[in-house]
Amino acid sequence: MVPVRRQAVLRSSRVVARDTWWMEFDCPEIAETSVAGQFAMLGVGLDTAGTWLLPRPFSVGWTGPGGVAGFLVRTFGAGTRAFTRLAVGDEALVLGPLGQPYVLEPGRSIECVAGGVGLAPFIALAASEAAAGRQVRLIYGERNAEAVFDLDLLRELTGHEPEIYTEDGRMGTMGRVLAGLDPAGDALLLGCGPTPMLRALAEFARTNHRDLQVSVEEHMGCGIGTCQGCVVRSSDGRWVKACVEGPVFPADSLDWTTGG
Ligand SMILES: Cc1cc2nc3c(=O)[nH]c(=O)nc-3n(C[C@H](O)[C@H](O)[C@H](O)COP(=O)(O)OP(=O)(O)OC[C@H]3O[C@@H](n4cnc5c(N)ncnc54)[C@H](O)[C@@H]3O)c2cc1C
Ligand code: FES
Repeated sequence: MVPVRRQAVLRSSRVVARDTWWMEFDCPEIAETSVAGQFAMLGVGLDTAGTWLLPRPFSVGWTGPGGVAGFLVRTFGAGTRAFTRLAVGDEALVLGPLGQPYVLEPGRSIECVAGGVGLAPFIALAASEAAAGRQVRLIYGERNAEAVFDLDLLRELTGHEPEIYTEDGRMGTMGRVLAGLDPAGDALLLGCGPTPMLRALAEFARTNHRDLQVSVEEHMGCGIGTCQGCVVRSSDGRWVKACVEGPVFPADSLDWTTGG
């Protein structure tokens, strides 16, 4: 599918956790063609006053009926702050779907392991795969209870009961997501989250001979393979572009000894 670049109207926006919004856009091309793990570059466009010129990457979090695409957006810096200030009816610049998705084997159970905004690609995935009869676990961790995505909305979107971990223990189980995994399990592991979490997950998978695919959260300039701002080191020593060869990679194809 060739990515589409278009202005998309914001249909709804709501706060779902501290500094975190769930934003749904009218964007039929993304709703109809994206596959879980792919992302879109989202921006406010050059006509909007402010300092943010480059669009930023966000996982496609949800594709609904009527051409709706949902995104989970947590504020980090100027770009995400500008984006979450959009009001219903405003237009955003959307380029996507981009990158390589998770690759599932027919019938095989999956365990989705999410840290922070790494939850996003698993919202649509958990919904569609559980509805198709696949056995799915959604294991989701945050530092503290305030950061946890609105659980009622998460259940509504996924049709699924997530397993929650918080480091402060004020919601779900106290601790980190890895504690929820069985070393002897044979489900396919899918990870998305900050690099330290993915590195720990990759080490868990390597030690226990578990299959794992990860989506990496690299900074991205263009999202389409031209700027080289997103490179990660592969296990054979090459640099690979996360925006076109990823963001989803087999964990054993990456070099986990370097980078953040
Ligand atoms: C494939 C992909 C999918 C993503 N999906 C989502 C998503 O669904 N929801 C979501 O909220 N975010 C997602 N992100 C992260 C999001 O793109 C960044 O938070 C955003 O680019 C930050 O832009 P900014 O202008 O607000 O911050 P900036 O001003 O660019 O940076 C603010 C601070 O955050 C740090 N930072 C920025 N980007 C990253 C990053 N990618 N990793 C680590 N630190 C960073 C900067 O170093 C700086 O300290 C995704 C990233 C990638 C690569
Ligand atoms: S973000 Fe520009 S090459 Fe990947």
